[in-house]
Amino acid sequence: MTDKAYYVTTPIYYVNDAPHIGHAYTTTAGDVLTRWHRQRGEDVWYLTGVDEHGTKVQRAAEAGGVSPQEWVDRLVADAWLPVLGTVNAANDDFIRTTSDRHKLAVQRFWEVVRDNGYVYAAPYAGPYCVGCEEFKLVGDLVAGEGDFKGQQLCPVHGRPVEQVEEDNWFFKLSALAERLIAHYETNPDAIQPQSAYNEVMSFLRQGLMDISMSRSSVKWGIPLPWDSDQVVYVWFDALLNYITAVGYGADPGTAEAELFERTWPVDVHLVGKDILRFHAVYWPAMLMAAELPLPRKVFAHGWLLVGGEKMSKTRLTGIAPAQIIDHFGADAFRYYFLRAITFGNDGSFSWEDMSARYTSELANGLGNLASRATAMVEKYCSGAVPAPSVYTEADLRIQQQLVQAVVAADAAYLALDFSAGIAVVNGFVEAVNRYVTEQEPWKVAKDDSQIERLHTILYVLCDSLRAIAVLHHALMPRVTALMWEQIGAVVLGDIADQRVQHAATWGLLPVGAHVTKGEILFPRLEDPVEA
Ligand code: MSP
Repeated sequence: MTDKAYYVTTPIYYVNDAPHIGHAYTTTAGDVLTRWHRQRGEDVWYLTGVDEHGTKVQRAAEAGGVSPQEWVDRLVADAWLPVLGTVNAANDDFIRTTSDRHKLAVQRFWEVVRDNGYVYAAPYAGPYCVGCEEFKLVGDLVAGEGDFKGQQLCPVHGRPVEQVEEDNWFFKLSALAERLIAHYETNPDAIQPQSAYNEVMSFLRQGLMDISMSRSSVKWGIPLPWDSDQVVYVWFDALLNYITAVGYGADPGTAEAELFERTWPVDVHLVGKDILRFHAVYWPAMLMAAELPLPRKVFAHGWLLVGGEKMSKTRLTGIAPAQIIDHFGADAFRYYFLRAITFGNDGSFSWEDMSARYTSELANGLGNLASRATAMVEKYCSGAVPAPSVYTEADLRIQQQLVQAVVAADAAYLALDFSAGIAVVNGFVEAVNRYVTEQEPWKVAKDDSQIERLHTILYVLCDSLRAIAVLHHALMPRVTALMWEQIGAVVLGDIADQRVQHAATWGLLPVGAHVTKGEILFPRLEDPVEA
């Protein structure tokens, strides 16, 4: 028996175009979450990837004048793989739906579901949104205005839907509604936040209709094993990535089969709220039909908005992650989006807000604390962490605050409340900044008889920085690794190997560790930002 890994996924992104910060947002959240769990000492598996089939990608390739395969190969290599480096994601795997491992396992899965009696042939007629790659219900649509007057629009894309009529294969979703309701009644935490849970439950309680699992008018996809004139409907191909990437269907005894045992069922599917229904209704229904265990949790986050609307390429409002990261750095990018927006809510990005938080919370808050502390150890102790002597009440208060911060930050991160977790660590940074101001080590240093007090204050600062670096490492891997070096904590090993649960154990930073002021963690923003 293999131990179960903490398995987290992002949606797989359509490669009709290059990524924008809405996509990078989910990847970043998943990365912070999985880094945190790794630092708790857990076995972790973090998967991301791309969704390469379907009409949307096929049309983008046609518009670009190349074959779909050339189109996706180029975009994946030039844009989707590099963006992982840009945001500093440490994913364990990257799945492409055009890979053989995926295609073969998708065919195997649908054979099983068909053998289990959940697939039948029937004609389909109705509206379809290519932007969502979704068969729409008439009740989902909104009436168009202006250029689109008289037409029915997709509410997500603000574009007219298309009428589709074709002979398809259907998935017997209707047969599974009751079981889904029962499952979510017994597992109310399986969909979060609460608003997402409520939305899914009310959708389920209206009853479910069967849904096409294949397309006969689409060519760019995975052929049905029993009807090669049709391809698997792109969502019923894409959702399977979560199991095909971890070895679903592999022969027993192989490394792939072992990975499946180690990872499935998934712990958290991170998704945007627009694709909740696919993940919390269709996906578990597919798994039930194949007699596989269901995901433990689907967490639906909100949208990054521009002018009050979902940022998107269709609306020409997409901002490339590099536009922000070239200016602020990846750590500040990760910090900003997870701190400024409560995970689960929508949020607007603005250069002004980001600059303001960068300056006050990062440069003046954390950056200033680290540079003051390291400068003083260099100046007063020749760069060697001094030995503490008797702790005063103020020193002990810092140590207690740290204990509380670790407990609260861990609870918040485990609950995917990133903003709250970051606020807790920031609160501790502020407390230590206040401590320096109150203790005035620069004055204490003038009195030779107080050398022990000076050393104690500086030790409190350095060991606090050690803990802060550990607690902020999942969020800001590069800057915290720099801090780690600057306070000489490398003697404790790699920062990524430091357990968050032990961060409050006082006195871990060895006396005599070598402190250097080094690179400024958050340089002042000099250039005016271009909006
Ligand atoms: N390919 C499907 C997902 C298949 S998963 C089995 C898809 N792709 S997508 O590229 O359109 O969107 C991927 C994710 O990016 C979704 O979770 C979506 O919510 C998210 N975002 C796209 N635009 C976004 C914002 N403006 N803000 C936040 N997230 C956004 O859907």
